[in-house]
Amino acid sequence: MARAATIHVCSDCGHTEPRWHGQCAGCGAWNTLVEEAAPPKATAGGGRGAGRARGSTNAALARTPTALRDVHAEQTKRLHTSIGELDRVLGGGLVPGSLVLLGGSPGIGKSTLTNMALGHLAQAGHKTLYVTGEESAAQVRLRAERLGPGALDVPIVAETDLDAVIATLDAERPAACVIDSVQTLHAPDLTGAPGSVGQVREVASRIMGVAKANGTAVILVGHVTKEGALAGPRVLEHLVDCVLQFEGERERTYRTLRALKNRFGSTNEAGVFEMRSGGLVEVLDASARFVGEATGKPGSVVLAAMEGSRPLLVEVQALVSPSELVPPRRVVTGIDRNRLALVLAVLGRHGGIGTGTADVFVNVVGGVRVDEPGADLAVALAIASAQKGVALGTPERPLAAFGEVGLTGELRSVGHPDRRQEEAAKFGLADVVAPPRVTSLRAALRAAFATAREEGPVRAA
Ligand SMILES: Nc1ncnc2c1ncn2[C@@H]1O[C@H](COP(=O)(O)OP(=O)(O)OP(=O)(O)O)[C@@H](O)[C@H]1O
Ligand SMILES: [Mg+2]
Ligand SMILES: [Zn+2]
Repeated sequence: MARAATIHVCSDCGHTEPRWHGQCAGCGAWNTLVEEAAPPKATAGGGRGAGRARGSTNAALARTPTALRDVHAEQTKRLHTSIGELDRVLGGGLVPGSLVLLGGSPGIGKSTLTNMALGHLAQAGHKTLYVTGEESAAQVRLRAERLGPGALDVPIVAETDLDAVIATLDAERPAACVIDSVQTLHAPDLTGAPGSVGQVREVASRIMGVAKANGTAVILVGHVTKEGALAGPRVLEHLVDCVLQFEGERERTYRTLRALKNRFGSTNEAGVFEMRSGGLVEVLDASARFVGEATGKPGSVVLAAMEGSRPLLVEVQALVSPSELVPPRRVVTGIDRNRLALVLAVLGRHGGIGTGTADVFVNVVGGVRVDEPGADLAVALAIASAQKGVALGTPERPLAAFGEVGLTGELRSVGHPDRRQEEAAKFGLADVVAPPRVTSLRAALRAAFATAREEGPVRAA
């Protein structure tokens, strides 16, 4: 037997089969069998299983528990990538020996971000390694040329064979390493294609082994499927220490980086980046940009959102236009479609704003995603403003809002109201429509349209 044996394990019930089947014989589920390396055969003479009676114990196996305060835990120094937003999302830099999964849709800038991070680390005197399975070394070099001198200091290996990558990691022992991408590496002992569940899991767990042993911080780049899951199934999420998601639309300027899971820090952090010819640039004054660019026209409302622990003002735009379609179109970018459905239903039922025969488009400007219920009210007001053709606030001082819309037309408070208010006030938008000042959608609509009558382009009543 030349190749290592593999087994197929049902991911639902754990049933094993020597060969792949479409249906699990154990639980009847379809397409749940995943290839894995076969566990090593239990060797004779280990004393295990050799007639050990049920209920009896082996005193030699007993371990002595240690009080947590006596456990030796070294405060390892984190590696600072000098990309402030990335370090912040990581909880203060890369932790040696940890595994970070960086996911994002094609072309979003994963390779750019990781190459820049390694470049900075290399310039700071850390040993780095960039493993590319996706692009040739020459392609990576061409990108690095526009990312500044540090990026060109990073040693690169173009390799897709997992054994070769593991051997290289063991020989080089870098402080930080990027695997771009985890789906392109191939474990030769498994028969599955690169990127399949079994392969991806094997690749990640073996890399984790060397990373932990050598104290190498590893960033695994992963592609996101259409459904938004990392590496197809979310097989890696529990395995790695940290899951980062790089989001945004490829054709737009702004991208956000957020942590979905972090064993060494909060998942409330998010960073905003802009793709420029010189690479990804942190956007520290994102609110100023978005407010400055806000149109203040009918259908435009500023949302005082939270990007992690940081307040961020973004412009929400809506367009309501008569439709022949049944059902009419509901098109969103930057917010959840289901949230829009809810907001439209409540607007119709409790706000007197019906959109049943109109197409509704809602867009968060700049490619930012705001996945929080706090966006509801701004969305509702933008739609109301668009439907009535009335601009809220003035072009210089557009209306700002936040708050969750409840099913009975009430407004619910959301996290960090003070910080949102402060951020809005910083940009001259002190008059924020938000709970608890207004407690119902109806009251919010009244307050919002009052700003239009006072200062906006007045419309005949
Ligand atoms: N000269 C340039 N100026 C500005 N932006 C550029 C330039 N060249 C490339 N880009 C941007 O960089 C993006 C690609 O970045 P990158 O290769 O890091 O993405 P990726 O997430 O690694 O993609 P993939 O999924 O293909 O690996 C392109 O979508 C493009 O918008
Ligand atoms: Mg890439
Ligand atoms: Zn099963």
